[in-house]
Amino acid sequence: MDFQVNEISLIINNKKLEYELPYLWIRDNCPCNECRIEETLEKRFMLNSVPVDLKPKRVDIDKNNINICWPDNHKTTISFKDIEFLKRPRKPEKELWTNNFIPKYYNWDDFLQNNDIAISAISEFIIKGVICIKNAPCIPNTLEDLTPRLGPIREVLFERIHNVSIDGHIYNIAHTSLEVPPHNDFASYSWPPSVQALHMLINECEGGESMIIDGYAVLKDLKDDYPDFFDILSTFSVPFREFDEENETYANEPIIRLNAANEIIGFRYSNQLMQMIDPHKKNVSLFYKAYHELCNRINSEKYKSKFRLEAGHILLVFSHRVLHGREKFKPNGKRHLQDAYYEMDNIENNLVLYENLKR
Ligand SMILES: [Fe+2]
Ligand SMILES: [Zn+2]
Repeated sequence: MDFQVNEISLIINNKKLEYELPYLWIRDNCPCNECRIEETLEKRFMLNSVPVDLKPKRVDIDKNNINICWPDNHKTTISFKDIEFLKRPRKPEKELWTNNFIPKYYNWDDFLQNNDIAISAISEFIIKGVICIKNAPCIPNTLEDLTPRLGPIREVLFERIHNVSIDGHIYNIAHTSLEVPPHNDFASYSWPPSVQALHMLINECEGGESMIIDGYAVLKDLKDDYPDFFDILSTFSVPFREFDEENETYANEPIIRLNAANEIIGFRYSNQLMQMIDPHKKNVSLFYKAYHELCNRINSEKYKSKFRLEAGHILLVFSHRVLHGREKFKPNGKRHLQDAYYEMDNIENNLVLYENLKR
């Protein structure tokens, strides 16, 4: 093992400059039983208990470990294996898609009862942002039964399990037979539900094909073609509101949400919920040009995938990424859909849990 001691850090494998380990990093991550809570492995050591210019008394590096003795004689050993492990991605990588995409179907019973099938379904869900479950009971509130796999239902104002039909409570476009353009639900929340299940209970009407769009694919292309449009859509906040006689929800947030590495981690798009933007704001005109281009792309055939949801089908979408909609239908029969929301964090964590069970 080739290493070099610097004023403030260790440099491991200097020639390739594999990585630097600041002394504060090493001290902070000491895995010993004094520095951790033994029962829970949580960190107990507090960084401010050492000076910011902390230096080791002695450094010893062998094939497997870094061993450090600190000025107070506290000893820290960290293995290279643990450091290498940090490079491994925790989740499968996303794959983008455009039109003519059909989600993978999983059987209701298998998804709920077989852990291996749940692992492949959840992995596929993380990768593509969408899967379908078939042969689900056509009984109202069946979505409650998905909670062992998907985690608790994320409630919002309005119903816990939403009923979508044209003869129930009408407070948005989905309760009519009009075309519902691609959108995600509850853009009017500062944290909209990240997963949505759409469960078809009865579908006797002509038309009304479901459509889905990979929002990240649209945004990636937009970024390549018009980086300034992408920038304004990720920095300019837009008001969204969903309400009825008894409920009022409102959020003022950008359409694109980025993480610290500038990767897209959220897409908020709802023509029907978007409100009037205060024209006193700077850059309204640039925003509108960018938004026009975005709307063009979302409503083009290039990105839309369409298929029919039959009774007993549950469409599951990662709604911070995938937009959903449906074509208009002829109200010549019964049509009843139920929606419920879940959170992606809970689903992804189940994947780690099931994989640990196999070890
Ligand atoms: Fe919706
Ligand atoms: Zn320690």
